[in-house]
Amino acid sequence: VRKNLSIVGYPVGWRDVAMAVRAIGDPAIEGRFMARVGDLVQGQSVFTAHSGNACFCVILKTLKELYSGRTEVVLPAYTAPSLIVAIRKVGLKPVLCDISRDDFNADPDGVLGVICGKTLCVLAVHMFGIPWCNIIKVKRELPSGVVMVEDGAQALGARINGIPVGLFGDVAFWSFNRGKNLPTLSGGMVTTFNPALAVHLRQEAVAILRPRGLLKSAVDHLKCAALCLAFDPAWYGLLRPVIERFKETCVPSDISLETYSRFRAGFGLSLLDSWEKSLDARFRNGRYLQDALSALKRVSVPKEEAGVMPVFNRMPVVFEQSRHLDQVVCLLEDAGIESSRMYVRPLHHIFDLGYQEDDFPNAVFLAKNLLTLPVHPLVRQEDLDRMVSVIRKVVME
Ligand SMILES: Cc1ncc(COP(=O)(O)O)c(C=O)c1O
Repeated sequence: VRKNLSIVGYPVGWRDVAMAVRAIGDPAIEGRFMARVGDLVQGQSVFTAHSGNACFCVILKTLKELYSGRTEVVLPAYTAPSLIVAIRKVGLKPVLCDISRDDFNADPDGVLGVICGKTLCVLAVHMFGIPWCNIIKVKRELPSGVVMVEDGAQALGARINGIPVGLFGDVAFWSFNRGKNLPTLSGGMVTTFNPALAVHLRQEAVAILRPRGLLKSAVDHLKCAALCLAFDPAWYGLLRPVIERFKETCVPSDISLETYSRFRAGFGLSLLDSWEKSLDARFRNGRYLQDALSALKRVSVPKEEAGVMPVFNRMPVVFEQSRHLDQVVCLLEDAGIESSRMYVRPLHHIFDLGYQEDDFPNAVFLAKNLLTLPVHPLVRQEDLDRMVSVIRKVVME
């Protein structure tokens, strides 16, 4: 069986699983995990949950109660569709804005243009681990009473001017799902610097998050341990048909409001031992592709902005012609390198949100023409060179 490099990955070993098993008997483990992640983002950890979206639901419910009468949540039209499920679950209205072709994050004028008296919050998504550099300008111009929530799901460890993302808004949430920078299979955490808001958030979390249940937790533990094999390129080729069946390719119909677990917290703490090395690798690999691909015609990559330090969860590449994208996917597949389309439709094509098909043209274009490449710590230099040579060959033909 041929080796196969997966689109997401982290150096996970049986030692991490052993640490996770030991953590089941440690009542202080979640507190220690929260403190470590809080240190990474220099924020105050508030609570953990079963997923990033469970955290988002708690944040939205808290804000909805604090700012009654405000019902709209502003977010970019090209991002994770599950965010819309979370917004609707809490009974709020998603309001979209277009994205920028410079950094593939929200267009600042688009965000500010839809703010009104009904706006509850702006969701500042740092897509692909690339910090939304316009967050500073937008935050400054937001009317008082409009909250900025940072979605750091893909961007744990990213910085702007040396300041970790998560510190620019009023509150932030993070994801530890299997595709993220700290993959504990699933999980999420909230941080804020506002002590009063932290109290409300904690109360809401206690009120609405339920324990996950023994059977579901046991299955989680097995799947978490399976990450050791799933991320290993030698095993991934063999296990891929099975793993494909567990991939979440559809939009979830609901968000489970459940708690995190000691096992996953212990697993995460163990993974954090190689955190710095993993961040360096993501940055190095991402910058290598960014430099090599920005020199090519007919493809574009996010522009390098001054002071912005991404962590590249994946490397987004936009093809002028979608047929090039299809060819690259096939050739990379032949070379044993998995690439991924990420979101194949913008949010207003997935959900009926009251928009026209051709609204948000940049988001529509990206959904059709964007491919993501692996840059995680298990990617080797020869893999990067292969990605560049395949893309160069296709777009130059
Ligand atoms: C940008 C973004 N926000 C939020 C989420 C939700 O995180 P989770 O899967 O932990 O619920 C994701 C996950 O895919 C994401 O990519």
